[in-house]
Amino acid sequence: MGVCGYLFLPWKCLVVVSLRLLFLVPTGVPVRSGDATFPKAMDNVTVRQGESATLRCTIDNRVTRVAWLNRSTILYAGNDKWCLDPRVVLLSNTQTQYSIEIQNVDVYDEGPYTCSVQTDNHPKTSRVHLIVQVSPKIVEISSDISINEGNNISLTCIATGRPEPTVTWRHISPKAVGFVSEDEYLEIQGITREQSGDYECSASNDVAAPVVRRVKVTVNYPPYISEAKGTGVPVGQKGTLQCEASAVPSAEFQWYKDDKRLVEGKKGVKVENRPFLSKLIFFNVSEHDYGNYTCVASNKLGHTNASITLFELNEPTSSTLLQEVKTTALTPWKGPGAVSEVNNGTSRRAGCIWLLPLLVLHLLLKF
Ligand SMILES: *[C@@H]1O[C@H](CO)[C@@H](O)[C@H](O)[C@H]1NC(C)=O
Ligand SMILES: *[C@@H]1O[C@H](CO)[C@@H](O)[C@H](O)[C@H]1NC(C)=O
Ligand SMILES: *[C@@H]1O[C@H](CO)[C@@H](O)[C@H](O)[C@H]1NC(C)=O
Ligand SMILES: *[C@@H]1O[C@H](CO)[C@@H](O)[C@H](O)[C@H]1NC(C)=O
Ligand SMILES: *[C@@H]1O[C@H](CO)[C@@H](O)[C@H](O)[C@H]1NC(C)=O
Ligand SMILES: *[C@@H]1O[C@H](CO)[C@@H](O)[C@H](O)[C@H]1NC(C)=O
Ligand SMILES: *[C@@H]1O[C@H](CO)[C@@H](O)[C@H](O)[C@H]1NC(C)=O
Repeated sequence: MGVCGYLFLPWKCLVVVSLRLLFLVPTGVPVRSGDATFPKAMDNVTVRQGESATLRCTIDNRVTRVAWLNRSTILYAGNDKWCLDPRVVLLSNTQTQYSIEIQNVDVYDEGPYTCSVQTDNHPKTSRVHLIVQVSPKIVEISSDISINEGNNISLTCIATGRPEPTVTWRHISPKAVGFVSEDEYLEIQGITREQSGDYECSASNDVAAPVVRRVKVTVNYPPYISEAKGTGVPVGQKGTLQCEASAVPSAEFQWYKDDKRLVEGKKGVKVENRPFLSKLIFFNVSEHDYGNYTCVASNKLGHTNASITLFELNEPTSSTLLQEVKTTALTPWKGPGAVSEVNNGTSRRAGCIWLLPLLVLHLLLKF
C-alpha cells in the first residue's frame, strides 16, 4: 500500500511527472487556495485510520486539465491513474467536480494533497491536508506488583494514538480515591497499606472511547491484632475465644496457654482459622480451662501476640437475682454523682428513688 507509480516504474513516472508538472505548474510558488477562485478544494479532511477519505476539487468549464497530487507525486491526471496504489480511486471527473477517494487510510497517508488545474493556460493549485486519527491504545503497562509497606513503586502506562492520547492513573479500589497521576507515570514513595488495591490507567484522545487497563498493587505488612477480647463462660457450656488480625499476606495463628502451645485435636477443643480470624472453641468448659491464653499471629514480615482470658462466669440463678434486688432496696439514697458507682442494672432504679423528693419539692413550690 502507498506505493506509487514512480517507485515501481521510475523512468516512466519521473520523466512524465516532470513533464506534466512543468506543464501544469510552470514556475514559481504554487498559488494557495485562498488566492484563487479555482480550483476550490475542501477544508482539511479528517478521517480515522481504516476509513475512506474523499478529496474533492470544485472546478468549472474553463478548466482544461486536472490532477490530484500527493505531495509531488501525481495520483490521478484527468481519468488516468498515475499511481499503482489500489486504494486510490477516481470518484468523479465532471465539468464541476474532480474527486478521488483514498480507501483504508493509514497514518502515512497524512499530509498535504494538491488539486492542480489549468484554466485558460494558467495553472492553479489548491491544497488540502489529510489528517488521520487513530484510536488510543495502551501498548505498555506495568504488571501487578506485590511490595512491602514503606517501599517505593513506579507504575508505567504507555499509550499511542492520534492525536497523542492523554494518560491518567486512578486508584479505584477498594475505595475510589480518584486521580493519582495525570501522566504515564505513577510514583508512590513510602507506600502504605491504604494505598494497596487496583489502579486504573486510562488513555483518551476523543477519537474513540478511552481505553483502560488495571494494575493490582499488593502492599504487604506484618500482622496487627485488631481484636482480642476475653470472655466469661459458666462451667459445662460452650466457650469461644476470638483473635482478629489484619496482615498481608494473611496471618497464621497459634494459641498458647501459659507458654504451652495448644496442639490441634486436643479433646473438646477446636481451633478454627480464617484469613483474618482465629477461634479457639471449648465445647464443654471445665474448671481447668479457665486462664490466660495467648494468640500469636504471624506472616513472613513478622509476628505479634495478644493475651485473652477465659474466665468463669456464674450463671445467674433465681437466688442471686433476688439478692441483687434486695441490695438495691436497702441501698440508702445517694446523690446523682453516686449513681455511676452502682452497676448498670441498679442505676435506673436508684435514679427513680432520688427523683421522688424532687417531684414533691416541685409540687410544694407550685402551691
Ligand atoms: C502519500 O505519500 C506518502 C509519502 O510518500 C506515502 O507514504 C503514502 O502512501 C501516499 N498516500 C497515497 C494515498 O498516495
Ligand atoms: C489544515 O491542516 C494544516 C496542517 O495540519 C494546518 O496548518 C491548517 O491550519 C489546517 N487548515 C484548516 C482550514 O483547518
Ligand atoms: C524511596 O525514594 C526516596 C526518594 O527518592 C529515597 O530517598 C528512598 O531511599 C527510597 N526508598 C526505598 C526503600 O527505595
Ligand atoms: C461436660 O462435662 C461434664 C464433666 O466432664 C459432664 O458431666 C457433662 O455432661 C458435659 N456436658 C456436655 C454437654 O457434654
Ligand atoms: C491473666 O492476665 C491478667 C492480665 O494480663 C493478669 O492480671 C492475671 O493475673 C493473669 N491470670 C493468670 C491465671 O495468669
Ligand atoms: C508475646 O509478645 C511478647 C512481647 O513481644 C513476647 O515477650 C512474648 O514472648 C510473646 N509471647 C508468645 C507466646 O509468643
Ligand atoms: C455500664 O455503665 C458503665 C458506666 O456508667 C458504662 O460505661 C457501660 O457502657 C454500661 N454498660 C452497659 C452494658 O450498659
